[in-house]
Amino acid sequence: MQARTCLAIVLAAGEGTRMASPRPKVLHAIAGKPMLAHVLDAVAKAGVAAIAVVVGPGQDEVAAEVRRLTPDAAIFVQGERRGTAHAVLTARPAIERAADDIVVVFGDTPLLRPATLARLRAPLAEGAALAVLGFRPADPTGYGRLITAGGDLVAIREHADASASERQIALCNGGVMAFAGDSALAILERIGDRNRKGEFYLTDAVEIARGLKLRAVVVETEEDDVRGINTKVQLAEAEAVAQQRLRRAALDAGVAMIAPETVYLAADTKFGRDVVIEPYVVFGEKVTVEDGAVIHSFSHLAGAHVGKGVSVGPFARLRPGTRLGDGARIGNFVEVKEAVVEAGAKANHLSYIGDAFVGANANIGAGTITCNYDGAAKHRTTIGNDAFIGSNSALVAPVEIGESAYVGSGSVITEDVPAGALALARGRQTVKEGWAARLRGLKALGKKKARTRD
Ligand code: UD1
Ligand code: MG
Repeated sequence: MQARTCLAIVLAAGEGTRMASPRPKVLHAIAGKPMLAHVLDAVAKAGVAAIAVVVGPGQDEVAAEVRRLTPDAAIFVQGERRGTAHAVLTARPAIERAADDIVVVFGDTPLLRPATLARLRAPLAEGAALAVLGFRPADPTGYGRLITAGGDLVAIREHADASASERQIALCNGGVMAFAGDSALAILERIGDRNRKGEFYLTDAVEIARGLKLRAVVVETEEDDVRGINTKVQLAEAEAVAQQRLRRAALDAGVAMIAPETVYLAADTKFGRDVVIEPYVVFGEKVTVEDGAVIHSFSHLAGAHVGKGVSVGPFARLRPGTRLGDGARIGNFVEVKEAVVEAGAKANHLSYIGDAFVGANANIGAGTITCNYDGAAKHRTTIGNDAFIGSNSALVAPVEIGESAYVGSGSVITEDVPAGALALARGRQTVKEGWAARLRGLKALGKKKARTRD
């Protein structure tokens, strides 16, 4: 049998006033990725080919993000917020393209899993016209209640319109619905706005379908799948769930974590085999860690590639553009930015390596700083293979240290150093024999004088 085609309609026209932020609600991030991107990803992973996103008027930022994430998605603007069914019908041209299945998801439900969407679509292949994702929240207040009879869904009653006995129903509408494409428009067009809020409720689709002698069913799932985000508190709660899932997936893939609950991952963090992550490590976006690497405690990584067997931290900061070759070592209080550190190179203590290339097996002594910024522009530092930079040196970019060259400790290097050379760029040491004893003698005299004055 041929796979059924599917259109996903993502509703994202909400204003999100309760987020108390100028940023559109669906662009707030979970695990370093906008909520809307989580939803679009889940939809794509569930085998949905066509995507339509409904945005509110003036939500250019949201539309731009949709175009960036899924360039093929059709974007529709809902001029006026007149309810969820009204929002769905804004995407009418996409609906008219007649997919086998049409799923409606909310842009502020970021924890929805692809497998759940696939499960929701399954009854459509068996003849149902409508499948609704149900769940049993700890507190059902505010949710639409699912009224069932036998195995079928009979109606959804919005909280505001529900009777006291209907409000006792524990099974609630998660908001995600799947329609069979051949009857979707006929159902949607019949939805009216005669209810307490005067809105076109998508939930009325159930009773209308039954009126048309079509079947509606419930597919149950756990609360996390349909967790809707309206406030910063809910955003933080969803983040906690997302982190648990990411840690679990990393552990399942063989990453070792002593205290996984203290490790923060991004949705796109990638690990090789046998990686070890010590407690209290934070991964920002776009980090790849290859086989056998160890990330020690209190390190912060973002936009970094960590090669095989590399050791990072404790207390290291890898910023975007960092690439660490196999076996490199980045130790405590070392910051790396926009820099390639080749295989076997070491910067073990207290350094800043920015806009730089560090050759294989080079040794960067404690306290070495690449002075990459002159107040107006950034400049590059190049350090050859096997070079040795003595501790507490300042490499004033643009500058190049040749292969196997030595830089003496405490140097301020402003000119290129040829391969194999030694460069010393610091004041000469002067020694004054007996100087300290003379100073102490003078001090002792000064104290006596002070006392005699008393
Ligand atoms: C909706 C359901 C309710 C369900 C709950 C689950 C309806 C009528 N009710 O209620 O049964 O239990 O979700 O969370 O569907 N939106 C638009 N345009 C509009 C209205 C809404 O794009 O005109 C979008 C919102 O941005 C949001 C989604 O649709 O992403 C749901 O709207 P919301 O107002 O949150 O519906 P609820 O009252 O939560
Ligand atoms: Mg809601």
